[in-house]
Amino acid sequence: MPTLIAHASRYGATREIAEAIGRALEKRGLAVDVRPAAEVGRLEGYGGVVLGSALYSGGWLDDAREFLESFQDELAARDVWLFSSGPTTPGDPAEALGGWLFPEDLAPLVSKVRPRDVILFAGKIDPDVLGLQDWLINRSMRGLAGDFRNWPRIEAWAARIADALTAARAGAPQAAHDGNQN
Ligand SMILES: Cc1cc2nc3c(=O)[nH]c(=O)nc-3n(C[C@H](O)[C@H](O)[C@H](O)COP(=O)(O)O)c2cc1C
Repeated sequence: MPTLIAHASRYGATREIAEAIGRALEKRGLAVDVRPAAEVGRLEGYGGVVLGSALYSGGWLDDAREFLESFQDELAARDVWLFSSGPTTPGDPAEALGGWLFPEDLAPLVSKVRPRDVILFAGKIDPDVLGLQDWLINRSMRGLAGDFRNWPRIEAWAARIADALTAARAGAPQAAHDGNQN
């Protein structure tokens, strides 16, 4: 069964992270389907699910939030991994944000879904492509321009997902959860 890698992305930076995760899983012999969260109509036919959203004003994009909400029961019955991407900062973004991993308003859904892992990746801001409103908000927030995505870290996370999926496929016993959640 393919692994679904669903993403919500406004300017493409998060989509590219999802695509990199997809390539890393494929490289390890796993079938994947990488697609925008808004385009997923059902989870039937998928094994594991990776869901990621860009952060805007502290929250996930609606498409990812709605995905988590509407598929909460199906997700609770699957192996799920969640990622947020946003902070334009060098180093570990979760450390920069004092351990923050995902928007607080998602906590009840995240508790229900019980993801195997949740991670926060750094993001990318190119002021030249931002819509006017985002450009103004970003200027007022003094968001740092640049591409801070840490591809080795993304690849390493994807490798751990591939290991877990491969173990599940082989029917090997798995650790209940990987921890690293808030
Ligand atoms: C208007 C605006 C608001 C943002 N708000 C946040 C935020 O609250 N927290 C955060 O970590 N990153 C924030 N970011 C950074 C984005 O999450 C980052 O640029 C991300 O990589 C964008 O991904 P996308 O291209 O997939 O939409 C913001 C960026 C913009 C332009």
